[in-house]
Amino acid sequence: MRPLIPLHALAASAAMLLAASGCAPAPEAELPDQAFIERASMIADQQQQTLKAELVSALTQAGPIGAIGVCHSAAPAIEQSLSEEHGVEVSRIARRNRNSSNAVPAELASLYNQLESQPLMDGKPHVVSARIGDRQVFMRAIPMQDQPCAVCHGTNVAPEVKAQIDLLYPDDKAVGFAAGDLRGALLVSSQTQ
Ligand code: HEC
Repeated sequence: MRPLIPLHALAASAAMLLAASGCAPAPEAELPDQAFIERASMIADQQQQTLKAELVSALTQAGPIGAIGVCHSAAPAIEQSLSEEHGVEVSRIARRNRNSSNAVPAELASLYNQLESQPLMDGKPHVVSARIGDRQVFMRAIPMQDQPCAVCHGTNVAPEVKAQIDLLYPDDKAVGFAAGDLRGALLVSSQTQ
């Protein structure tokens, strides 16, 4: 199986350290343990499948305007229940966000940049991971898809849908995405001892 994490970035920084100090820390020391990465990947799958199912069913039953409310409440509810079940923190983050509480934390900006410059890696959502301070972090790209995402995040959102979004999110920055752009990222993090 291919490794889930691209090692080139870490390898490059390890090489720089090696050149600078003459003593190289093992690149593995900067990576989360494999068990965490596997668990985080499974949690990310669960989050996305559950949310997408709820979103699609809300769009069918309530239409785009009704589904806005579902997206607003369903995503945090799913994230909270997965966080509690697995003892990790699950959230969605985005630089061009709709809800500013989903902003990219400063310490994760450079990891996020890697996803933004290449949302897909070998045809799959790009995954990066790292140890940052006392946390291990798993971040997976959420590439923009045409359907059903474009209804609320695309380049041509219906005026009545946009009006309702603006009512709830006056500072909305999450429209104008084309298929394949980075819409955001799924973040799973956990405290290490
Ligand atoms: C019915 C409208 C609607 C559709 C369709 C929709 N979204 Fe959203 N999206 C929202 C709303 C509303 C929020 C803000 C949720 C909140 O308050 O946390 C949001 C937030 C997000 C966020 C979190 C970051 C942010 O901008 O606040 C991501 C990532 C996201 N959507 C991705 C997607 C993807 C990918 C799809 C397609 C599978 C999609 N959305 C489809 C309405 C929608």
